[in-house]
Amino acid sequence: MLPIDQHDAGRTAEELEHILEERFGASIPVDPKLQGLDQLARIARHRSHRRFLERAVEPGLLRLLCACALSAPSKSDLQQADILIVRDREMQRAIAALIPDMPWIADAPAFLVFLANGRRLPHIAEARDKPFPNDHLDLFFNAAVDGAIVLATFLRAAAAVGLGHCPISAIRDHARAVSEMLALPPRVIPIAGLCVGWPAEAGSITPRLGLEVTLHQDRYAAEDVMRHIEAYDRRREARRPYAHQRSPERWGRATVYGWSEDKARQYAEPLRADFGAFVRAKGFRLD
Ligand SMILES: Cc1cc2nc3c(=O)[nH]c(=O)nc-3n(C[C@H](O)[C@H](O)[C@H](O)COP(=O)(O)O)c2cc1C
Repeated sequence: MLPIDQHDAGRTAEELEHILEERFGASIPVDPKLQGLDQLARIARHRSHRRFLERAVEPGLLRLLCACALSAPSKSDLQQADILIVRDREMQRAIAALIPDMPWIADAPAFLVFLANGRRLPHIAEARDKPFPNDHLDLFFNAAVDGAIVLATFLRAAAAVGLGHCPISAIRDHARAVSEMLALPPRVIPIAGLCVGWPAEAGSITPRLGLEVTLHQDRYAAEDVMRHIEAYDRRREARRPYAHQRSPERWGRATVYGWSEDKARQYAEPLRADFGAFVRAKGFRLD
């Protein structure tokens, strides 16, 4: 007989293989002797949550999760990401009112905003009486990447304690208004909001593009990409068909409505075309 922990590892390895099969439609073998299988399974099990229990998220827990998230690596140790916790329910409602098609924003027991901060660095240059010849696109890019890593780390930390979450980039559809409400100074911009709460339902796995499309070895491979994407469309339609077709008045009703048709329709409309102007107006130089 195997010791109990080896039985558990075997079960977790099997569960992880099963999740990855559901995600990628391919068999990805998992060695049951690997360390950290629980953590891998939790990462692979990811799903966004948009329905929450009416149960508060303790401020102390939120602060703990923020501290874990802000422990993420940071480009050159520059630490260009901040988190803003929206505690004022009126403010949360006002943000939610800007985005009426996402009622989960108002309903979320906690709402956070992840920020890219390109302000601290030129500020300390000034305080230390140094020149700052790095006021160009890289300042914006590094801050946005740091902020995204902190967001992703928060998602993992929240999932570890059983919390559900849903990032909200839609706040950038109203970047100026949100920025004013949150009193964001020059060179501090929102990357995404985040709904957090105890999940009201289990949720489910959204299949992703096959690894033939998104995983490359030695050189970028783009052969047969549409064939692989169409295979993904069929796999996704079998497991998670879209409930609605986008803009049928413009594009008609498709008989096969997969991910690629949905994303092509979504991006056939101009979206956030004013975001560059907002970022520039916030003082970032993007050249
Ligand atoms: C940066 C970012 C922004 C997002 N913005 C929104 C949003 O504004 N509204 C929303 O409902 N979901 C949003 N999402 C969630 C995605 O829609 C979701 O991750 C995607 O549909 C895949 O589903 P899954 O997370 O359950 O695997 C966002 C996700 C990310 C990473």
